[in-house]
Amino acid sequence: MNKTIVLPLSDFSALARTGGSVVGKAEGYANPIVVAQVSDGMFAALDALCTHAGCNVAYNALNLTLDCPCHGSTYELDGTVISGPAPRPLKKFTASSDGTNVTVTLP
Ligand code: FES
Repeated sequence: MNKTIVLPLSDFSALARTGGSVVGKAEGYANPIVVAQVSDGMFAALDALCTHAGCNVAYNALNLTLDCPCHGSTYELDGTVISGPAPRPLKKFTASSDGTNVTVTLP
């Protein structure tokens, strides 16, 4: 069964603006998750653990990518690897918002 996590925008103020993002752990999922508002009211959520050596990726609002600070891997917002050394894509989750909360659906 899918599990959802709900992030109230009032509690996660960074998510309330386009370009903002948060990285954190949620109950029921082992890895950290990155959530970003990529354009007005549109959200992306992915497993934040870089598939190279396990650093946390960060949302890059300028390039609309997820960037790993450790060895420079970059990923598309759908998780696809743009440049390595990351060997595999990031897992992407469904994310949506009703303007009050952001809801992320975990596998
Ligand atoms: S851990 Fe991300 S590029 Fe190495």
